[in-house]
Amino acid sequence: MLITIPNVLTPEQTVEARHLLEAADWVDGKVTAGHQSAKAKDNAQIAEEHPAARQVGETILRALGTHALFLAAALPLHVFPPLFNRYSGGQKFGTHVDNAIRQHRATGHRIRTDLSATLFLAGPEEYDGGELCVEDTYGVHKVKLPPGHLVLYPATSLHRVTPVTRGSRLCSFFWIQSMIRDDTRRSLLFDMDLGIQRLNHELAGNVVAAQTSVQLTGVYHNLIRQWAEM
Ligand code: NI
Repeated sequence: MLITIPNVLTPEQTVEARHLLEAADWVDGKVTAGHQSAKAKDNAQIAEEHPAARQVGETILRALGTHALFLAAALPLHVFPPLFNRYSGGQKFGTHVDNAIRQHRATGHRIRTDLSATLFLAGPEEYDGGELCVEDTYGVHKVKLPPGHLVLYPATSLHRVTPVTRGSRLCSFFWIQSMIRDDTRRSLLFDMDLGIQRLNHELAGNVVAAQTSVQLTGVYHNLIRQWAEM
């Protein structure tokens, strides 16, 4: 499942984040790449422990912690501290798969990467190229979002970033360990959650709808009991 999470950051937060990040020191993006992906990767990043990365990362984590759509779609157990990358002057990231396990340098904490996330910080009109292309059984999905919006996709999928031929593409990227490891199960739960919410909103006041909602909510939570890993 590939899902867009709109308005993770407000326009003000996005401007503030860009300010901090643009003034930071940028290094070769190969520092966080594995052996296989280092060959495909050509971009710039901010070091994990850089104060600007930490500050903006905390803003993003706080925003995600209260974002209902993100919480429903990801069912997060752990979110890796956000990292930041920039592509310009023809830079790209060829087809690769993200490492299954990520260790945070400062804390030593390890997470299993079930979901990959990209939060766009530059507007699509500011650069050419730079599409995130995610492959799944339905084909290739091209993603390029307005600033402050995020895309969530299974970390199991092959993906790439096409060359940025004009301007520069500034993004945050990170991973999520979900309580529900399996993408299919997580998608089923998300669909059920959305259905229950529709029932609640569109048939508010209807007694049968209310009873059905309680019954389905029970099924939802019981499936989480069956499947959740903590
Ligand atoms: Ni990747």
